Amino acid sequence: MPVISFANAKGGAGKTTAALLLATELAHQGYRVTVIDADPQRWISQWREASGPVRNIEVVSEVSIASLQCHLREMKAQTDYFIIDLAGARDALVTTAIGLSDHVMIPVQGSAMDAKGAAQILDLLSFLKEKANLSIAHSVVLTRVTSMVTTKALVAIKGLLAARGVNVLTTPICERIAFKELFETGGTLHTLDPQKVSNVDKAKENAGSFALEVMRLMPMKVIRSGAPRIFGFGRNAA
Ligand SMILES: Nc1ncnc2c1ncn2[C@@H]1O[C@H](COP(=O)(O)OP(=O)(O)O)[C@@H](O)[C@H]1O
Ligand SMILES: [Mg+2]
Repeated sequence: MPVISFANAKGGAGKTTAALLLATELAHQGYRVTVIDADPQRWISQWREASGPVRNIEVVSEVSIASLQCHLREMKAQTDYFIIDLAGARDALVTTAIGLSDHVMIPVQGSAMDAKGAAQILDLLSFLKEKANLSIAHSVVLTRVTSMVTTKALVAIKGLLAARGVNVLTTPICERIAFKELFETGGTLHTLDPQKVSNVDKAKENAGSFALEVMRLMPMKVIRSGAPRIFGFGRNAA
């Protein structure tokens, strides 16, 4: 079962939002997801408290460097996808989590010219490859993209990352009230009231495409917890 972590050394990049969207979409599709909340600010844990039990999602809180590997081992049998939400830092816990990941997602705000936090994670990945011969697949996901962000600006960011050989997901995560709302109300996009929150359908479509693209990056044999179905084979991770 793939371990996907969300990392960016800066806070506010959209890590927790992207991690929650991926978790809730995968769970909606019937995959059993364990979210490891490795951010001391506990946003995902608070979301879980606001939500009550959510079908197919377990949240593990209070994670330390020492306990991280134990959590992965303990939850392995009941998990199709692990998602690790990390603090906006480049510390030992972030490094450990990255080292245990099959794929690192690096959210970068589409509008922000400041991609330093992402660059720090890319440097860390290069360091692990050089010093520990640990090659971890990774992708940048553009977040908080609005119609104000010009196609030109996005193409420029993509070009810059492509020059460094970094994969950028085709699907950007758009700026949506519905995504923010999840942290207020708990639950998923599928339980939000479309009468109360605007553009829930567009939000669902966006989160669904994002999750689909991530799943395609990590093809593996997965048995759904509902009706069993076999998916693609092999894994491309380190
Ligand atoms: N796609 C989005 N649409 C709307 N608001 C967003 C989106 N992504 C992030 N935000 C908001 O931006 C702030 C920071 O996002 P968050 O996901 O917590 O970032 P990080 O985990 O990197 O610190 C939060 O208030 C969050 O609600
Ligand atoms: Mg966060």
